[in-house]
Amino acid sequence: MARWWRGSVGYEVYVRSFADTDGDGIGDLPGVRQRLGHLAELGVDVVWLTPFMPSPQADHGYDVADYLDVDPVYGSLADLDALLADAHQLGMKVICDLVPNHTSNQHRWFLDARRSRQARHRNWYVWRDPAPGGGPPNNWVSHFGGPAWTFDEHTGQYYMHLFLPEQPDLNWAEPEVRAAFAQILETWFCRGVDGVRIDVAHSLVEDSGFRDNPVLDPPPDDDRHGSISTFEHFQHAHDLDQDGVLEIYRDWHRIAARHDAVLLGEVYLLDPARLARYLEGDALHQSFCFAALRASWDARDIRATLRPYVEASGDALAWPLSSHDDPHAATRFGGGDRGARRQLAYLTLLCGLPGSPFLYQGDELGLDDAELPDTVAEDPIARRNPGTHGRDPQRTPMPWQPGPGVGFTTGTPWLPVGTNRTDERTVAAQTGVPGSHLERTRRLLLSRRRLPALTDGSPIRWLPSPDPVVAIERGGQVVVALNVGDEPARLPVGHPVAIAYATDDDVRVDAQTLVLPADAAAIVQRLPAPASSG
Ligand code: NOJ
Repeated sequence: MARWWRGSVGYEVYVRSFADTDGDGIGDLPGVRQRLGHLAELGVDVVWLTPFMPSPQADHGYDVADYLDVDPVYGSLADLDALLADAHQLGMKVICDLVPNHTSNQHRWFLDARRSRQARHRNWYVWRDPAPGGGPPNNWVSHFGGPAWTFDEHTGQYYMHLFLPEQPDLNWAEPEVRAAFAQILETWFCRGVDGVRIDVAHSLVEDSGFRDNPVLDPPPDDDRHGSISTFEHFQHAHDLDQDGVLEIYRDWHRIAARHDAVLLGEVYLLDPARLARYLEGDALHQSFCFAALRASWDARDIRATLRPYVEASGDALAWPLSSHDDPHAATRFGGGDRGARRQLAYLTLLCGLPGSPFLYQGDELGLDDAELPDTVAEDPIARRNPGTHGRDPQRTPMPWQPGPGVGFTTGTPWLPVGTNRTDERTVAAQTGVPGSHLERTRRLLLSRRRLPALTDGSPIRWLPSPDPVVAIERGGQVVVALNVGDEPARLPVGHPVAIAYATDDDVRVDAQTLVLPADAAAIVQRLPAPASSG
């Protein structure tokens, strides 16, 4: 069967902040549906919707209270059906977020589980007695700070949560949990959902002995969310990436195969070999490669960061440019016009790699993270680390048009739009404007679609290049090159080429040399050799 997701262009919709149709200041499914045309015109193939299931919103939907319904704040199942139908009509696939590592503490399974040690769903969660001297059973910590264990007075045991106490971890050693999720997948796929993005897909299974994690000394630099995280002070030898997790995905693979659906993992492992295991032998179809969010604006670093993943997993990778958990790429690369320019150049390189480039909403406008008033703290990470904004700056409303609600809402947006937002960085201001970030991004995605070597899994070759340039060749036909330097750079390509796409009007081909201005990238196509006259 053709694997439709290979080589596709993905786009993350953070539903809460994309488009609000009922004026409550919170994005909803009808809002996404209304804006599907924007995504189709941009050249998106796969739309990922962040969680819209009923949830107390302790972690903005990543605390699910019912896996099979839609939270009224986001709409209804009928709205989802209508959205799926329209997206399919426009030739796009839709994947939903599946959160199997943990539920909300308000899920009926957990409400039952904490009733007594004999409760029907007790073993669906991870319960342990206190340590012999009292206190948590081991040294595991939550991603969001503090211990990964909360004591339940009523039943006298701790339950485990790798995230908030409101997000108790499910016990995947329990066969009934596996059966419940098999049913959840069947239900969504039967409804017409084209696949799932699996939240913390490297988690789920823990060490059966619940051994302490080794402490890293010295601790690494861990300022990922501008917050103090103890999580990165440990080597997660026993709470993450345990062997048994792949078995779960092999079961899911069989279910997905029956529906031609894709399993896209959020496998947040920064080790190419460990990540590759999830993509082998009928486990996951695709995984994000989060290393792509960490490369600095340095040619050697970009090459050294990306290449081992490409070699290990090739076109099973999805390349995030930004996400709701990480800063916008424009901000990461310096912010403002320069950051936006670099972001587009980096996206061009990602478009040249085997696999799927994945944009996050607003990337197509060159959007920066929002600057927010000090008092704003919606993200649980921000709330737990006073004085920080956590992930709020990348989750602010999608700016559709100039004006107070930026075309996102007629009401008061749940997060302010940001004091640094400008009229220029809106969809309305950039649509149809030659040279705008939006039009350049659209041209990039359409150019990529027209070049089979970039989407059909053709072999990749990393070309030798002068230092500030990263250059790759696909299928012997197409060269994609990025100049991260402050000066123009020249890349000899060894044969006649034509420019298929350039981030900058000053990109040119001089004899058989590609000339790239600072912070620019281009895609060039090999021209057929001239017919010999002899
Ligand atoms: C990863 C999600 O992307 C993030 O937003 C969430 O907080 C955690 N998983 C917990 O579900």
